[in-house]
Amino acid sequence: MTGTASEPVVVAKALGRDYSVGGGLFSRPATVRAVAGTSFELYPGRTLAVVGESGCGKSTLARMVTLIEEPTAGALSIDGHAAIPANWAGLRESVQIVFQDPYGSLNLRQRVGAILEEPLKINRKDMSASARAEKAREMMRLVGLRPEHYDRYPHMFSGGQRQRIAVARALMLEPKVLVLDEPVSALDLSIQSQILNLLLDLQERLGLAYLFISHDLSVVRHVADDLIVMYLGRPVETGPKDAVFAAPRHPYTKALLSATPSADPAGRRERIKLEGELPSPLAVPPGCPFAPRCWKAQPRCRAERPELQGAPHPAACFFPEA
Ligand SMILES: Nc1ncnc2c1ncn2[C@@H]1O[C@H](COP(=O)(O)OP(=O)(O)OP(=O)(O)O)[C@@H](O)[C@H]1O
Ligand SMILES: [Mg+2]
Repeated sequence: MTGTASEPVVVAKALGRDYSVGGGLFSRPATVRAVAGTSFELYPGRTLAVVGESGCGKSTLARMVTLIEEPTAGALSIDGHAAIPANWAGLRESVQIVFQDPYGSLNLRQRVGAILEEPLKINRKDMSASARAEKAREMMRLVGLRPEHYDRYPHMFSGGQRQRIAVARALMLEPKVLVLDEPVSALDLSIQSQILNLLLDLQERLGLAYLFISHDLSVVRHVADDLIVMYLGRPVETGPKDAVFAAPRHPYTKALLSATPSADPAGRRERIKLEGELPSPLAVPPGCPFAPRCWKAQPRCRAERPELQGAPHPAACFFPEA
């Protein structure tokens, strides 16, 4: 992992994405604020992890950063170029994505070689067939697959190997950023660490920046440099991983960490059980969105939304942990 002397390769400022839903015969259209007010910088060779419960906006953020979907608010720049208003043609190659389920994301009718060469066929039209095949084989080697298996179909590989194929495909255009949306969540525990180690090794060799999405804090502990903790579409705490794990400031982060014993090797945290349901994203409470479930909430928390701020790292809480 290199230092932060270089320029950030992704800069997000107050990024947001709304969806309009409903509006049928019996209902008015409503707005889901899937992501709001999310800012970060991502540096070459570093991993920024995004954590939070299901529905907190992780995949929506992933789709915006990968330029699959246009943000409805904020500013995004990739590799020094503004990505909004949609200026994606040249930028798309800089950012690639790996999804959770390699079975769903790979075309099962294609041979591995064809899967890997497809991005080249589309984006490197002047490349010869033999150069494409050579590059595909080289990439198979890089991700720990045997180049002799170039003609095999995805179903002939194990789950871990299929995820290696997905990683290889994502790297064919030599991107600077990989967005990894729960890349090991579908894999057996023993295979997870192999894939995580592959990702770390590739990052070191290629200087890749990772936006690493995971609900699993023990995985995040293993791979992240920095962390964004999301709650109902907004970051509630950000900072260096070690600092956040050692001394979480937001009660929500504290609760998340306490629920993951393996993320806390000293085992010193008492498990905090969150009361109540996650509110509907269609009815985000006024004030602090976490207040209805928070054991520290005061009247102010229900009236006013706290900004992300403070030291040693920012948290969106009026009464953060010391
Ligand atoms: N295309 C869409 N139309 C309407 N609502 C959407 C759309 N995509 C996402 N949402 C809503 O936005 C919110 C965030 O969804 P998102 O998929 O980003 O969450 P997530 O953190 O990735 O969840 P998970 O951990 O389950 O993958 C959810 O309330 C979801 O229902
Ligand atoms: Mg998701």
